[in-house]
Amino acid sequence: MRLAARSSRLSSWYYALFDHSFDREHRAVLVGRLAWEESKQAAGKTSSLLRRNIHRLEKGLLMRPRRPIFALDYIGETFAFYESAIQSDGSVSITGEELHWAYDVLSEYFSVTGSHPRIDPLRERFQSLPVPPGVNGQPWRPYKRDLSKPPSVGYEDLLALAWRRRSVRWFLPEPVPRELIEKAIEVAKLSPSACNRQPFQFQVFDDPDLVPEVASLPGGTAGFSHQFPAIVVLVGELRNYYGERDRHLIYIDASLAAMSFVFACETLGLGTCCINWPDIEEDEKRADEVLQLEPDQRPIMFIAVGFPDPEGMVAYSQKKPNSQICRYNFE
Ligand SMILES: Cc1cc2nc3c(=O)[nH]c(=O)nc-3n(C[C@H](O)[C@H](O)[C@H](O)COP(=O)(O)O)c2cc1C
Repeated sequence: MRLAARSSRLSSWYYALFDHSFDREHRAVLVGRLAWEESKQAAGKTSSLLRRNIHRLEKGLLMRPRRPIFALDYIGETFAFYESAIQSDGSVSITGEELHWAYDVLSEYFSVTGSHPRIDPLRERFQSLPVPPGVNGQPWRPYKRDLSKPPSVGYEDLLALAWRRRSVRWFLPEPVPRELIEKAIEVAKLSPSACNRQPFQFQVFDDPDLVPEVASLPGGTAGFSHQFPAIVVLVGELRNYYGERDRHLIYIDASLAAMSFVFACETLGLGTCCINWPDIEEDEKRADEVLQLEPDQRPIMFIAVGFPDPEGMVAYSQKKPNSQICRYNFE
């Protein structure tokens, strides 16, 4: 190990020859890249190319000052994807909402960009395509927010909510209404996500026959998982990325969504406990089977959900002072 740690190349050889801890991740990244390649022309397993590029167009549209011509390097592939999705038979994994958003942003793009030999033919083809169903009213494109009123949730309320939220491990034996889970996901999905790809799924288990099996997958639930009313598995999908450089985004984006989900649950009277999913090969194999995962799908974390048992205690969980976790300008 000491020798291998001297350089990145030697470390790679170490993991190729002596330690196979990264094998599963390597395969997941490659399988994801292949799925992305296959989805390039029209959404196959992922609509990420369209989502990412429409997001980039929105950034171009809101730029100050806005350039008269932009997106020349990717408008061709964006339009090709959109065109084939519009003309497809509905079997591709793209939603009506995605097409609606793409239509409104592309409309704005083609109406504000100047004439250019690479843009003009696309503009013409765009105008001859059918308008996706549901497009009307306020367009889904960059807009100015109404900042005249303060937010309805004040800082003190948010701080109180953060203090109130604790990891809950003891629950009442009551089912969790799906309506509440859906409401929490409504908030979770508004979290930031790199290039707005949202590369995750909330896999929710509330069937009393399934919950104990799923809840026993991670090791950190021993002694209390038997009474979880519901459990959510946040699963990341590497099919959303064209390259290795973005492989960590499934963890970042899913974790941001998890935090919003947990806070939303708290406001709905539900307690939650995030549960670790360490990369242990034996556990991964079992999770693949139980959760029916594809090779590019990676469990990020589990979240127990239920109505908290008022008699159950929560940990004090002292938090670090700001002085320990915050630093200004290398001071
Ligand atoms: C990624 C992650 C993994 C966690 N894994 C477990 C776990 O396996 N078992 C458990 O009981 N709690 C787990 N927790 C909960 C933490 O122990 C808890 O958040 C921490 O002690 C702080 O307590 P608090 O959430 O009440 O503020 C996990 C939390 C996170 C964010």
